[in-house]
Amino acid sequence: MAINIPEPTHARAAPSHPDPYAYYGRLAREQPMARDAVNGWWVAASAAAVNEVLTSEICLTRPADGPVPVALRDGAMGEIFGRLVRLRDDEARKPLKHALLAALRGLDLAEVGRLARARAAELDDELGLPLDESKTTQFMFALPVQVIAQLLGVPAARYGDVMSWLGDYGAGTASAATGVPAASPELFARGHRGAQALLELFAGLSKDGGGPLLNALLREARDAGCGDERDVVINAIGYMIQGYAATASLIGSTLLVLARQPSLRRQVEENRALLRDVIQEVLRCDPGTNSTIRFMAQDGVIAGQTVRQGEMIIVLIAAANRDPALNPDPDRFDMARPDRKYLELGTGPHACPADKFAPFIAMIAVDHLLSRGVPLDRLESALSYAASGHIRTPLFKR
Ligand code: HEM
Repeated sequence: MAINIPEPTHARAAPSHPDPYAYYGRLAREQPMARDAVNGWWVAASAAAVNEVLTSEICLTRPADGPVPVALRDGAMGEIFGRLVRLRDDEARKPLKHALLAALRGLDLAEVGRLARARAAELDDELGLPLDESKTTQFMFALPVQVIAQLLGVPAARYGDVMSWLGDYGAGTASAATGVPAASPELFARGHRGAQALLELFAGLSKDGGGPLLNALLREARDAGCGDERDVVINAIGYMIQGYAATASLIGSTLLVLARQPSLRRQVEENRALLRDVIQEVLRCDPGTNSTIRFMAQDGVIAGQTVRQGEMIIVLIAAANRDPALNPDPDRFDMARPDRKYLELGTGPHACPADKFAPFIAMIAVDHLLSRGVPLDRLESALSYAASGHIRTPLFKR
């Protein structure tokens, strides 16, 4: 852990900070809902405030007067961004969200597990053993998104392309929405090209019959009365967009916990079933989705503060998870914590539909990496965090 490093200067600097947890804990306890006058945004930090924002009908995922950022509007990134249920609050999203949830929940997890283990073994060959720090990072990103791609019916030969298109889309949209990474015409051009390529690939898949997850989603959406097939197909791509960095982060942060706690590591090496509880505690204690954002649809009182129409609220999920009102002794890592509570998978209308799926894939990934001799002892010295205003993603690179 970092020593004598100054606290993050603001909420968006925290996810890439070496250790933002003293800062998060302090905000949760002392500034449950406060305005950051320097940056002009609100910060919700206590569990009660985060919960209130995420369940409030007047806190929207995008500003009412411009749901799609200007920089994205004239191209394929804008089309995807504007149609994802994650970034919409209109009525049509409700049946679509229901279909997304039902299709994921309907998956046979035992079958998903077999598929994920088989793909992990193929990655051994593709990346080459022994694992080093960089290959570990590549694996963290590749396995979850490739399993989702396979379930959607993407041919294996396109996995590399899909990952690079998703990366370009992610960088372009993050830049437009948060300013990180810095905007440039090339970044947006690449993002639009990636988004266009994803749209074309998925238009073909939905016509020719996709994989079990895409077919289930199309069926569930039809049953729920979603008449707009383009909406449905774009939200199938959305599974990969949503699951990409967050699941990689969970895998990486779990590896770090095992690297930092030798006795925990020994216990897990003797009994891999403990990984399930370790991952649940990592979701609470060192979560990937550090924060999300909301915009006020109208003036209103949120967590006791008057917030004006159009103002932005940074919702500090990672701080809420460290609120002693949510979990006693919140800074202690305890995989056996009874009645653990966290907001890492969201709550309210936008709660994550992959609450079972994502931790399950992360467990398979970490289990596989341990079996292949992941260099736990070298991870700390190779660690940096990806530049992001909201997601905390450990990267290991020498
Ligand atoms: C550990 C990994 C993951 C974490 C921590 C995570 C976390 C979250 C959070 C916090 C939200 C709500 C965001 C908000 O309210 O602003 C969310 C939404 C969502 N997540 Fe996840 N997620 C993960 C993995 C996945 C995966 C693997 C998928 C797809 C297979 C997925 C699909 C979605 C979708 C579709 C939404 C939007 C739901 C809606 O707006 O109705 N997530 N996720």
